[in-house]
Amino acid sequence: MPDTTPPKTKPILRALTGETLSIPPIWMMRQAGRYLPEYRATRAEAGDFLSLCYNSDLATEVTLQPIRRYGFDAAILFADILLLPQALGADLWFVTGEGPRLSTITDRAGLDALRPVADIHETLNPVYQTVRNLAGALPPEVALIGFAGAPWTVATYMIAGRGTPDQGPAHALKEANRPVFEALIERLTEATIEYLSAQINAGAEVVKLFDSWAGSLKGADFDRYATEPARRIIAALKDRHPGIPVIAFPREAGEKYSGFHKQTGADCVAVDDSVSAEWVAANVQVDGCVQGNLKSSHMVTGGEALVSETRRIVRALSGGPHIFNLGHGITPDADPDNVQRMIDAVRGG
Ligand code: CP3
Repeated sequence: MPDTTPPKTKPILRALTGETLSIPPIWMMRQAGRYLPEYRATRAEAGDFLSLCYNSDLATEVTLQPIRRYGFDAAILFADILLLPQALGADLWFVTGEGPRLSTITDRAGLDALRPVADIHETLNPVYQTVRNLAGALPPEVALIGFAGAPWTVATYMIAGRGTPDQGPAHALKEANRPVFEALIERLTEATIEYLSAQINAGAEVVKLFDSWAGSLKGADFDRYATEPARRIIAALKDRHPGIPVIAFPREAGEKYSGFHKQTGADCVAVDDSVSAEWVAANVQVDGCVQGNLKSSHMVTGGEALVSETRRIVRALSGGPHIFNLGHGITPDADPDNVQRMIDAVRGG
């Protein structure tokens, strides 16, 4: 059969298929967020954060804001990793200034009370509508990234009912009742496949798996609960949607970043700022595209250090496929002008 797939011209898609570009494409985690006055205005219009996530028109608008302002190479769907537990039946709310709160799962009964995976779309349809809106609204050179939380990270919130500094409650359940813990990881693995698959059907061109708390899994636990679910999710997506690239972000994986492409089938491994770009070039980029890894605090402090660090990372990763990004999300106290300085340093050398 003749190959009818269109040539990949979007810079991010080229990097994700292994091309080394002279100027790395760039986007930024949490690029639609509170550091932008236009985001704060739209969020106020929506009323609260969750209403913004479920309002497809306003979620489309905030996704496009950083594209209009900066011309990033990718837009990331505006939503949250905690919408999936909500779609599975967990209660979810956000406490201003503190963060998310959820009903907790501590035993078999809590797990059994969750809704079947097939029912998630009922809640998540507005998210798919946002993806469809974006697929029709983005400039042709800008790629659309969908996302989900990885099972372990989402489980840490479902077990504790909130963010925790050390993921203590999730580790405790893992030790006290491994069958229930593993059944939750299994349920989330299946639900994540369906969720990301629906985003791809709606028009997402790339998907990213956020495992923000992967670093607290050690040894065999990392392999079982970070690597293995990522491998299964990626295999299922590749099977259903050949050619859709996947970015995996096992944050703070340290030396476990090395080999993660091969172990999971990810097209790109995103790295936080606790590893040096030079180490990443030698140990991770040898297996494929990498994304990262400027400290997000530079978006607050700016100055010469921002420019020199940006250039150092671009240089260190110039020998292979690289997507420039921060090591974690931009924070609300960041100066929007520093984002432009970073982009200029990446694109202008
Ligand atoms: O990156 C983007 O611009 C896309 C949208 C996006 C959000 N959250 C919007 C958001 C993405 C990809 C996420 C992922 C997410 N959400 C993660 C994984 C990435 C990471 O940061 O480690 C996690 C752990 C969450 C859960 C979550 N959502 C927390 C802990 C919080 C509260 C902390 C905070 O920053 O306020 C959120 C809220 C949230 N998600 C905001 C945004 C823009 C701020 C909400 C607001 O406007 O008040």
